Amino acid sequence: MVAPRTAPRAGGRPTTIKSLATYVPPRLLTNADLEKMVETSDEWILQRTGIRERHIVDPGVATSDLGKEAAVKAIAKAGLTPDEIGFIVVGTVTPDMFFPSTACLIQEKIGAHRAWGFDLSAACSAFTYSLTTASQFVANGAYDHALVVGADVMSSIIDYKDRSTCVLFGDGAGAVVVSAATDGDGAILDFEHEIDGSGGPALCMPAGGSAKPSSHETIDERLHYVKQEGQTVFKFAVRKTEEISRRLLDRNGLGPGDIDLFVSHQANRRIITSATEKLGIDPNKVIINIERFGNTTAATIPLALNDAVCSGKLKKGDLVLLASVGAGFTVGAVLLRWGF
Ligand code: ACO
Repeated sequence: MVAPRTAPRAGGRPTTIKSLATYVPPRLLTNADLEKMVETSDEWILQRTGIRERHIVDPGVATSDLGKEAAVKAIAKAGLTPDEIGFIVVGTVTPDMFFPSTACLIQEKIGAHRAWGFDLSAACSAFTYSLTTASQFVANGAYDHALVVGADVMSSIIDYKDRSTCVLFGDGAGAVVVSAATDGDGAILDFEHEIDGSGGPALCMPAGGSAKPSSHETIDERLHYVKQEGQTVFKFAVRKTEEISRRLLDRNGLGPGDIDLFVSHQANRRIITSATEKLGIDPNKVIINIERFGNTTAATIPLALNDAVCSGKLKKGDLVLLASVGAGFTVGAVLLRWGF
């Protein structure tokens, strides 16, 4: 058991999420469609995961294409031009290619010619990790505005012959602009992150990297697809979502009743409800939209935030807790005050 780290508190000037935008490809893959592809049923998928449908790209559409759509909208909503973005971080586990980075590709597509940036690999924790990373560059005064993109084309690494994984994932993107906060804006208040590399084998894509370069053999063995020990990941996700959320709340002198909205990574409805119950957060203060999107990896949290804003569940001034667990294992939580 690893002892909790001492507090890595946010320092420097206050930062905030200035704008939010999302994009999902129009094509739907429903549970009924999956029933025709593998031995499964709508009832099993709905009961075990909470998912009804997911959005899937058409051939030729890549992560940078989804990310671009969300980024362009987020920058416009922030009242900025792409030239005003100083830094871009793209959380993704499905980059367009190994290199150049998806950040480079998105920078070019949106014309953010004065920004530098990189991709961040943290699987389903990529959005919380990227948000914290961008916030640090704004907090220390290096940039006034940073772009955070969480985007994944999970359909590009999913084995549609493996019923234990293919029902879970979808494609999508979300983007936020993180800016220096002024009075009356919201604020990114605190964060907490962990990795636990012992969890690597439980959720990974074994081939295609330097350990097992793609070959006819790796393709024949279907090793270029996501492999997962579902129950190991499930148990870790419930335990860690609770643990990291509680640690962040405790450190800030907060209880579950102080949170206006809890936004967890959307991997499985049962993971979210179990963690929420253990934390003692009122279920009415939780957003679950996995039914419509499945697990979009780096995009789930911005997609959930967007639904919360659109449905009136998230308002200016609300105290929001984000939490995520992903392959690695990676774990993250961010506490923030919503600004619009
Ligand atoms: N349809 C029908 N039956 C199925 C399906 C399916 N799609 N998938 C599995 N089953 C069967 C299994 O074969 C098994 O049958 P058996 O009992 O005859 O052997 C039975 O259902 C139960 O399987 P379990 O794996 O025990 O089912 P479980 O309740 O654990 O649910 C699930 C599986 C949904 C994958 C769950 O474990 C889960 O959600 N795990 C976490 C996923 C997750 O959080 N991923 C992390 C994010 S991904 C990232 O970071 C990139």
